[in-house]
Amino acid sequence: MDTRRSIAHGVRLAAAAVVLAWSGAAAAQAADAHRLAPNGQTPRMNYLHYCAGCHLPDGSGKPDKGIPNMRGVLGEFLRVEGGREFIVKVPGVSHTPLADSDVAALMNWLLDGIAQPSTPPNTPPYTAAEVTRLRSERMVDIPGTRKEIVERLERAGYTQVR
Ligand code: HEC
Repeated sequence: MDTRRSIAHGVRLAAAAVVLAWSGAAAAQAADAHRLAPNGQTPRMNYLHYCAGCHLPDGSGKPDKGIPNMRGVLGEFLRVEGGREFIVKVPGVSHTPLADSDVAALMNWLLDGIAQPSTPPNTPPYTAAEVTRLRSERMVDIPGTRKEIVERLERAGYTQVR
């Protein structure tokens, strides 16, 4: 490739990168548009307001009605591949009107509190950027994905998540 052609090629690549970066940002903005801005509430208040109606204030859920118990067990998901992503991609979390930064704080609060002692020590906290990414990815088969993760957990000797 002569120099002029390779410069032209470089310019086209750079232009493509700009378009990609722009459309990524626009998509993230569009996805965020229906959500509230960070609401200044504590994670506990957000949990009580947005989650406890189904999951109950203590996180024990209604397992016989399909709402899983998170109390003392949720942190096990972080032991195997796919678990960290799964617990944010479930519709109750992914589709909440909370801002990504509030979702990150809420997940960290759950893992540090209600989920204890199941959360592995030194678990890196969720960041708003990680939540943004996970919320932008669709999870097609929730029960199927969960079943695979639970099987992975069982193979690794973790049996609390049911
Ligand atoms: C309308 C009822 C409802 C609300 C509100 C709700 N969830 Fe859920 N949640 C469920 C159900 C049902 C499941 C089981 C998986 C599924 O079908 O989505 C679930 C699954 C989960 C899971 C995965 C746990 C597991 O063992 O599979 C987590 C984590 C979770 N919810 C957290 C939350 C948080 C945090 C909120 C609040 C921001 C919330 N949920 C709001 C009903 C709800």
